[in-house]
Amino acid sequence: MSKLWGGRFTKQTDRLVEEYTASITFDKELAEEDIEGSLAHAAMLGRQGIIPAEDAEAIREGLLKVRDRIRKGEIEFSISDEDIHMNIEKHLIEEIGPTGGKLHTGRSRNDQVATDMHLYLRRRVVEIVELLHKLQSALIDQAKANTDTIVPGYTHLQRAQPILFAHHLMAYVSMFGRDAERLMDSYKRINVLPLGAGALAGTTFPIDRHFVAEQLGFDRVYENSLDAVSDRDFIVEFLAHASLIMMHLSRLSEELILWSSTEFRFIELDDAFCTGSSIMPQKKNPDVPELVRGKTGRVYGHLIGLLTVLKSQPLAYNKDMQEDKEGMFDTVRTLQGALQLFAQMIATMTVNKDRMREAVNQDFSNATDIADFLVGKGMPFRQAHEVIGKTVLYCIRNGKYLLDLTLDEFRQFSELFDERIYEVLKPESVVNARDVYGGTAKPQVIAAIARAEQELERTAAWVAAHGESE
Ligand code: ARG
Repeated sequence: MSKLWGGRFTKQTDRLVEEYTASITFDKELAEEDIEGSLAHAAMLGRQGIIPAEDAEAIREGLLKVRDRIRKGEIEFSISDEDIHMNIEKHLIEEIGPTGGKLHTGRSRNDQVATDMHLYLRRRVVEIVELLHKLQSALIDQAKANTDTIVPGYTHLQRAQPILFAHHLMAYVSMFGRDAERLMDSYKRINVLPLGAGALAGTTFPIDRHFVAEQLGFDRVYENSLDAVSDRDFIVEFLAHASLIMMHLSRLSEELILWSSTEFRFIELDDAFCTGSSIMPQKKNPDVPELVRGKTGRVYGHLIGLLTVLKSQPLAYNKDMQEDKEGMFDTVRTLQGALQLFAQMIATMTVNKDRMREAVNQDFSNATDIADFLVGKGMPFRQAHEVIGKTVLYCIRNGKYLLDLTLDEFRQFSELFDERIYEVLKPESVVNARDVYGGTAKPQVIAAIARAEQELERTAAWVAAHGESE
C-alpha cells in the first residue's frame, strides 16, 4: 500500500510505528466535519481558479459519494492511511481518479484537522446547552411542585435552617444556568476558521479564507497562521466548562444518593433509574447518580491531560496534538449521557413531602429565629445566641423540641419571651421570614422561578439560532 506522502521514503513504515501513530481508530468520528470542510475548500479552489471549475465539481460529487458510503457504513477505514483526512482523500481518489488529488491544493492536514475540530465542537456545544436547558426545565418543574414543601437546610451536613425544597432545587438551576452561559460565551472562540493557515505559514495559492469561513458559517478567521494550527485552547476551555458541569452534577448526585437513603427517605428515584443487588434482595441502588459522580473524575482527567499535552510544545503543529481528540470525544459522550439521564431522573423522582415535614419538625433549625425574636425585643444578638444555646441544651436533655416547650419553660431562659414565640417558631414562619431577594421565602422563590423561566427562553432562542437542525 503506497502512502499519500510516500515520495520521499525508501522503506515501508514499520507496522508497529504505523499502528502507534495512526489516529484513524478515533478520529473517524470527525468524518462528517472533514468532508464538510473539504467541500468548502474545493468550492473555494474552483471559485478562485486555483483548479478548473469542472475539477472542483468532480471533487464535490466525489466527496458526496464518499460521505454517502461512510454514512451507510460501507467504508472500512485503514490504519495504513493513518487518519481520517488521508482515508477520505484516498477514497475520493478511488472514486473520481487523479483529479481527487487536487483537493489538497493550498491546504495542510494541520489546518484541516484544526478546522474539523472547530466544526465538531461548535455542534456539540449547542447540543450540550440544549441538554442543560432540559435538565433545568426538569428541575424547575419539580421546584414548582414543591413551593410549599419545607425541608431542613444544611451547613456542615448539620440541620441549619428550614428552607423550601423548591429553593434547594433552584440553586442547581442557577448553577446549570451559569454552565450554559459559559458554553454560549465560548462559542465565539470556537466559531473561528483555521483553514488557510496551511502547514504553519499560509499558502502560495490565492485562496479566499473569508469565502470558506462564510461557507462553513464561521464568524471569523484566525488572525495568525501559526496560532491557527497550533492552538487548542478552545478545547481546553470546553473541557474546563465540562468539568464544572460534572462537578455540579456530582454534587447533585451526592444529594440524590443521600436523600434516597433509609436515613433520609426525602426522595425516591424511579425504578427505571436504579438497579438491584445480586445478593441482597431488599436493595435498590442509585446507580445513575453514583456513576455520574464517578465519571466526574475522567472529565477532570481529560482537562489536566490536554493542558499537559500542550504545555511546552513549541510552535507550531507537533504530533503531540493528535492527543487532543480522545479526551474531547470521551468528555462529550460522558457529559451528554449524564445530562440526558439526569433530566429524566429528576422529572420522574418522587418527593416524599411528609417525610421532609417530619424531619423539619424534629430538629432545632428554628433556633436562629428565636434568637432573632429576642433581638427584636432589644437583647444584643450575642447574648440571645447564648440564651438560645442554653434553651436548646435544655430541650436535648429533656427530649423535647423548641415548639414543645411551655411558655414558663421559655421564661426560665429569658423574661422577654411571650406567646408570639409559637408563631415565630413554625416552619412556615421561619421560611417566610427570609424575605430577601434570593432568599427562601415563598414569594421570593416564586419570583426566582419566574426569572429562571425567562432565562430559559433566552437560552432556547440561542439554541434555535445556533443549532443545525438538518
Ligand atoms: N492526525 C493528525 C492529528 O490529529 C492530523 C494532522 C497531522 N499533521 C501532520 N503534520 N502529521 O493531529
